[in-house]
Amino acid sequence: MIIKIVSVITALFFLTSIQTSAQKTLAEATKGKFLFGVAVSSLQVDGGSPIETELIAKEFSAIVPENCMKPQPIHPEENRYVWNNGDNLLAFGEKNKLVVTGHCLIWHSQIARWFFIDADGKDVSPEVLKERMHQHISTVVGRYKGRIKGWDVVNEAFEDNGQYRNSKFFQILGKDFIKYAFQFAHEADPNAELYYNDYNVETPAKCDAIIGLVKELKATGCRIDAVGSQSHMHMNSPTLDSTEASFKKLKEAGVHILITEWDISMLPSPYDGANIAASFNYSKEMDPYREGVPDSVQLKWNKRMLDMFGLFLEYRDVVDRVTVWGLSDNTTWLNNFPIRGRMDYPMLFDRNNHRKPVVEEMIKLANKYKTKK
Ligand code: XIL
Repeated sequence: MIIKIVSVITALFFLTSIQTSAQKTLAEATKGKFLFGVAVSSLQVDGGSPIETELIAKEFSAIVPENCMKPQPIHPEENRYVWNNGDNLLAFGEKNKLVVTGHCLIWHSQIARWFFIDADGKDVSPEVLKERMHQHISTVVGRYKGRIKGWDVVNEAFEDNGQYRNSKFFQILGKDFIKYAFQFAHEADPNAELYYNDYNVETPAKCDAIIGLVKELKATGCRIDAVGSQSHMHMNSPTLDSTEASFKKLKEAGVHILITEWDISMLPSPYDGANIAASFNYSKEMDPYREGVPDSVQLKWNKRMLDMFGLFLEYRDVVDRVTVWGLSDNTTWLNNFPIRGRMDYPMLFDRNNHRKPVVEEMIKLANKYKTKK
């Protein structure tokens, strides 16, 4: 009898240890709940930084290019495309069984000037711009057809107050540029998922405008699979409540959500948007943790990460992917945005590419949630 009990206990012990050791990474712990992705640089997928390359392959289930598929880098001149970085990223993703999504087809930033002007430097006509969008989208989406799960088709078309951003696309084509982009993307790869992506989706007016757009696109017969909420966060904003409120609204409107560019900056900020054109002067007060992070600040950041991650898990029936915008504090774009040359601590890996303790906590938390139906 005693021997039986002992062997049952040993078997149970084994089973639990197998289970916990099977869920050692965030990719494993979130499996069946949502994809867990990371934005990667070309250096990282080319093996130029072997430690980082290995971490990306091991810890995540999805990748997105941080820069190389944006309009300017991939299409710098009207008759010239640059494919090597995108091709390498796809090959890396496929080799390591990582789901690849594309970022981004139409955006007012990181797009070359030629796109909007004629030989005399004047704005092109609506017809010409529409044709250029068509060329661009069908060539880029067409090249990777069947290999990319989904595309951020349009990035950042709204201001925080819900008005359309007065971008060149909007000035020349009006709001229809969005519809055209979705139509061209669908035509180029009918099986690819298509997303609208923006920052500050937690802002009510912006969230409402995005929901309105999704409804309009669907009413005109366009495919749109989800809204990407960039989720570039700060220590105090957005609040957990306003984030949840935006999820609720999107869910009620039948919209799926992707957390596409998650990071939580530890630093004070003069600006809570993510328009990459924003830029402020450096000062020591705005860069307070060069010598290290005080425990109280670290604990507050950890709690915020866990609170937000818990919310994503709660909403896993509609949250299909959570992607962090960079691997480590060493490479994060936030060291240079919106102020150049600071030392931020927004990522899951530290400056030596070591996992931060919060990752263990996130894994434990994710393990408590059942997979989605
Ligand atoms: C950022 C990249 O991380 C930087 O390397 C680059 O210099 C500027 O763009 N919103 C987006 C992303 O959709 O593409 C931006 O990425 C961050 C804000």
